[in-house]
Amino acid sequence: MNGGGSAAPGWGNGRCTAVQLAREGAKVVIVDINGAAAQETAALIAQDGGSAFVIEADATSEADMNSMVATTLSRFGRVDILAQIVGIGGRKNIFDETEEEWDRVMAVNVKSVFLSARAALRPMIEQRWGRIITASSIVGLRYVGKGVSMSYGASKAAVAMLTRQMALDFARDGITCNCVVIGMIDSPMTQLAFGEHAAKFGAMRDRASPTGKQGTGWDTAHLIAFLASEEAQYINGAEIPVDGGFSVKVPDVYSDGGS
Ligand SMILES: NC(=O)c1ccc[n+]([C@@H]2O[C@H](COP(=O)([O-])OP(=O)(O)OC[C@H]3O[C@@H](n4cnc5c(N)ncnc54)[C@H](O)[C@@H]3O)[C@@H](O)[C@H]2O)c1
Repeated sequence: MNGGGSAAPGWGNGRCTAVQLAREGAKVVIVDINGAAAQETAALIAQDGGSAFVIEADATSEADMNSMVATTLSRFGRVDILAQIVGIGGRKNIFDETEEEWDRVMAVNVKSVFLSARAALRPMIEQRWGRIITASSIVGLRYVGKGVSMSYGASKAAVAMLTRQMALDFARDGITCNCVVIGMIDSPMTQLAFGEHAAKFGAMRDRASPTGKQGTGWDTAHLIAFLASEEAQYINGAEIPVDGGFSVKVPDVYSDGGS
């Protein structure tokens, strides 16, 4: 579970997924750059009666991703599931975002998939069984308005394409690769991104959701747990939205009668 901590206190997509996978019987390895947050997730799993092992690692480092897989193999003998949920956002416009910020978003959101997946694919190919689940966003699919950095949307589109390509390359190896396309989920990452305006933006995101309310990390977690299961064996190369229908919604300007 890559990104199983959280960027700030609370329940994000990765933390909920780690707990849900443990509830469904998985031996979960929680990997995150925020070791303390990963430990918190492990404690939550322990309270729940499950068990989890923590690895503090940077998903942008090839050495860390290789050692994540090597440690998992030496401890459990297999790597069945890679849920690659690590990500950071960005809200600056094209003029304000610095080159360093662009590079960081691309490294954390895209290179992390490339490095973690290729590390996990080797044992999965040998086992002839594997599940890789990545995290894209509705902003990687289409324009949703200002306030999303160029790097964030572009990085999430790249995650989806990487996942499609891996899905087909390894379809005959007993491995499936799918992408969850996450919509407006109330998470530590979004709280952090909106800072002191979190309540205002939270209310705005609730209104923008077709259901009238943002989703939670659990909505994502249940989908990922299904994609990780035996039953999902014929779902491959899919991008599945968890967005309350946002990605098929007619823009408000049209439904309000605007032109
Ligand atoms: N919350 C939303 O509305 C939303 C919408 C679309 C997509 N997403 C995606 O969902 C995923 C999870 O985000 P979240 O909103 O649940 O926030 P989150 O803060 O709970 O999860 C992100 C995790 O990634 C970890 N991380 C960041 N950089 C890392 C690195 N270099 N190495 C290892 N771990 C690192 C953070 O410590 C954190 O635990 C992200 O990929 C995000 O882009 C979220």
